[in-house]
Amino acid sequence: MPFFIYYDILIIGSGAAGLSLALKLAEQGTRVAVLSKFALTAGSTYYAQGGISAVFDADDSIESHIEDTLNAGAGLCDPEIVRLTVTQGKSSIDWLRQQGVLFTEEQTQFGEPKLHLTREGGHSHRRVVHAADATGKAVSLSLIERAREHANIDLLEDHNVVELIAFANAHETEKRVQGAYVLDNQHQQVKTLAARVVVLATGGASKVYLYSTNPQSATGDGIALAWRAGCRVSNMEFMQFHPTCLYDPKGSSFLISEAVRGEGGRLILPDGSPFMHRFDARAELAPRDIVARAIDHEIKKRGIECVYLDISYKSEAFIREHFPTIYQQCLEFGIDITQQPIPVVPAAHYTCGGVLTDSYARTDIANLYAIGEVASTGLHGANRMASNSLLECLVFADRASEDILRKLPSIPPVGVIPDWDESQVSDSDEEVVVSHNWNELRNFMWDYVGIVRTDKRLHRAMSRIKLLKKEIAEYYGNFRVTSDLLELRNLVTVAELIVRCAQLRKESRGLHYTLDYPETDNSKPPQNTVLTPARH
Ligand code: FAD
Ligand code: SIN
Repeated sequence: MPFFIYYDILIIGSGAAGLSLALKLAEQGTRVAVLSKFALTAGSTYYAQGGISAVFDADDSIESHIEDTLNAGAGLCDPEIVRLTVTQGKSSIDWLRQQGVLFTEEQTQFGEPKLHLTREGGHSHRRVVHAADATGKAVSLSLIERAREHANIDLLEDHNVVELIAFANAHETEKRVQGAYVLDNQHQQVKTLAARVVVLATGGASKVYLYSTNPQSATGDGIALAWRAGCRVSNMEFMQFHPTCLYDPKGSSFLISEAVRGEGGRLILPDGSPFMHRFDARAELAPRDIVARAIDHEIKKRGIECVYLDISYKSEAFIREHFPTIYQQCLEFGIDITQQPIPVVPAAHYTCGGVLTDSYARTDIANLYAIGEVASTGLHGANRMASNSLLECLVFADRASEDILRKLPSIPPVGVIPDWDESQVSDSDEEVVVSHNWNELRNFMWDYVGIVRTDKRLHRAMSRIKLLKKEIAEYYGNFRVTSDLLELRNLVTVAELIVRCAQLRKESRGLHYTLDYPETDNSKPPQNTVLTPARH
């Protein structure tokens, strides 16, 4: 039985970006639907640790936050977008507090409560607002609670978008988004969800790598969906590797927050000697690209499994108060961080590039928006500064809501949408193809397109991507879709976009480091990498 439902606004993603937008639209009386492909907490937001950057300290300033963001971005940030975002830091935190988020506070010298600010790499001041070391959980649970209470918000869990629907009606000249085909995971049925406005808030793509701090959901779906629908993508070579993921030979991926270094944690080699001072004057608090590359260098040079992060010289009370989650999680791995250093390695963490958007989160397709990690707004340039991501989610949810509310009355109803056609496909008899290709893709992306790249490695990766793409396209054409197959199909597209962008950049800059062009090319103004899909 075909299933068709109509919404005014469809938001794909229930992280900080998607839910903030939903609440802002719902507060204005607009009805919205929010989809998550798994549970509502499935995205990266729930796992965020360090916090959200915003200027609160009397010694800090907007200008300083802008300068630090531009420095981290290695010449590729859009200064206007940086200013627009940073300027809204305080109001974004105030809005979250109104939604019920409880941030960590401390007492002023007069005994009044004020926000406690922590410090992270690249920031020249204490400016990270946080809820102990589980900021994302506090944000996520409050936003979900508010959204559940709101009569104007429909929440659909376990709904995985297969493809965007975008076409021009007979009398129209411009293609516009008109909805999405969505797999209801529980009922194994593809539904047609029509909508006048669609917002991608699908998060990043770090699961394209073998080792990642991200949850399962981070398969770059929104980037692949937008690309197939005809949107440009930008700066995909800038995949960020977080320097300190707990090293576990069994492959778990628990993050050790940068705030541990912000509060004095030191990186050491197995013999206990520090090394970061040899790579950057800011040592442990250099931007992430520099710290991750330094660790990678030491690991490869010395043939060691990991380096160590030591905060044990601080008092037990301090550690347990500031890092309760990290303390507990490490204990479960048999590591008491109040007594011993933590074994750490870098892991894929954040997608700086993505779907190209303007300052109102608009994409190349009419009425299709992209917000949060899926988007390339110009804020992060070649390397995102810590704790600027959640801020971007909040600011661009606000910008998108402003534009959507302004335009909605003039957007015509959707046209006639054909039902999803399953007449030519059958159930798969070879699921192993999907799991095998998943593993293969993530392995060679780690080995060939990781922290240090070369032309030869990128070429090797691209040859394999072409083979996988063909195999996956055949499989997709013959068998009923499953969630795993959809993710794999999106991941291979994202992998191709990362490699294509990396091949175009003939220099090292920010997160893109290649042995063939180890220097930054300062002979001409820095350029963003922009890919345009073939016209359909
Ligand atoms: P997400 O929170 O990732 O949500 C994506 C949503 O999209 C999910 O609901 C998912 O189910 C849905 N979705 C995806 N694909 C589909 C599909 N095909 N169909 C339907 N639904 C779909 N940033 C900071 O600023 N500060 C921090 O302290 C910080 N710490 C971090 C710690 C960790 C461990 C990680 C992984 C990231 C951290 N980041 C931090 C980065 C930050 O958390 C993310 O960039 C941000 O939360 C992304 O939010 P989002 O709303 O864009 O997407
Ligand atoms: C962390 O807590 O180290 C993550 C912060 C971020 O990714 O911005």
